[in-house]
Amino acid sequence: MLKDSAIPAPPAFYREPLSVGTLRLGSRFNLAPLAGYTNLPFRLSVRELGGVGLCTTDLVNARAIVQGVAKTMELLATDLAERPLFVQIFGANVHEMTIAAKWLVERNLADGIDINMGCPVRKVVKTGGGSSMTCDTSGATVELVRKVVEAVPVPVSVKMRLGWDSDNLTAPFFAREFEKVGVAAVTIHGRTRAQGFSGDVNHEGIRRVVEAVEKIPIFGNGDVRTISDAARMIEETGCHGIAIGRGALADPWIFRQFNNWVHTGNPGPRGTYAERMAFMRLHVRRLVEWKGNEKYGCIQFRKIATWYTRALRLPKRVQQRLVLLSELREFEEIIAPFADGPAPEGWSEYDAQQARVAVPAGPISHW
Ligand SMILES: Cc1cc2nc3c(=O)[nH]c(=O)nc-3n(C[C@H](O)[C@H](O)[C@H](O)COP(=O)(O)O)c2cc1C
Repeated sequence: MLKDSAIPAPPAFYREPLSVGTLRLGSRFNLAPLAGYTNLPFRLSVRELGGVGLCTTDLVNARAIVQGVAKTMELLATDLAERPLFVQIFGANVHEMTIAAKWLVERNLADGIDINMGCPVRKVVKTGGGSSMTCDTSGATVELVRKVVEAVPVPVSVKMRLGWDSDNLTAPFFAREFEKVGVAAVTIHGRTRAQGFSGDVNHEGIRRVVEAVEKIPIFGNGDVRTISDAARMIEETGCHGIAIGRGALADPWIFRQFNNWVHTGNPGPRGTYAERMAFMRLHVRRLVEWKGNEKYGCIQFRKIATWYTRALRLPKRVQQRLVLLSELREFEEIIAPFADGPAPEGWSEYDAQQARVAVPAGPISHW
């Protein structure tokens, strides 16, 4: 991890504009989907800080869209201020995938469709969707993607891992085939399904994907938290842009800083203690608004509370109370002793940026 004194020079080609299909991006740094976290309140709040290229929704079941399942409709909530937005869908049924994609575009809920091929959760894989799709090199997977591309007038992208395991690194093959059928971009998490979140991100593997395509942008993904991580990802893979997931939970200012770095060589200021406090407050309020119910919004906030308490270095007892939160009044009461500063002893903007929280246990730990 490098401090400001050792900031690497930005790659010159990152200053040039980048498009995904017909869509010109304002930045080469995208928010990667994190189911349960990257919902409308978080996306909107991050976008307001600046520097984000594309946002993508959490993964949504195509069948549930077709059936109009209420919980799914909640995941599709969007706001013009957070555009451009891609909606990420999964499924193995061509009919459902194309109907869902069309439905989203016709209602102006998506500027593009992202197809999930990285999800290793058993529930998704057993339907033939998610990462199991990167096992089928016989043609069915590519055919499904082609049908979705043909069904909608907006760009279609794919997000996947390097392959099922180290003996089956199918991502370069698929990236090439997807480009041939009209896919506009690929995001590649540099791990295999078998790896889960363990081990290092394989930059060489991402480079092979970059080299496999002719023109479309490849977004490298995995473990990028600092400018030195980004510089290394770009240098070692040649990726055209970067998708950032957990790094954005630790530090929502990451996009603004990365984009500043690209254009001026200087990332500019990090989020201050007061700004981080204000961001947390805005986030919880927006969750309540989005859920339309104070208790449910607060429950949703519990998931993210630990990220904030780490980044703000709040005492353990604050974290223990926030993960049981049910009311906004209680939120204000818990943070009142800390809200107006000064920052806790030892807090630094730099350390806040390095905050890490273990990926939640359970099946999603293998995304
Ligand atoms: C809690 C959690 C939820 C995730 N949900 C999704 C998802 O809905 N769709 C998807 O394509 N990837 C999902 N991922 C994978 C991330 O988008 C990303 O590929 C991965 O976390 C590596 O990037 P990072 O190190 O920047 O977080 C999820 C990851 C985590 C930790």
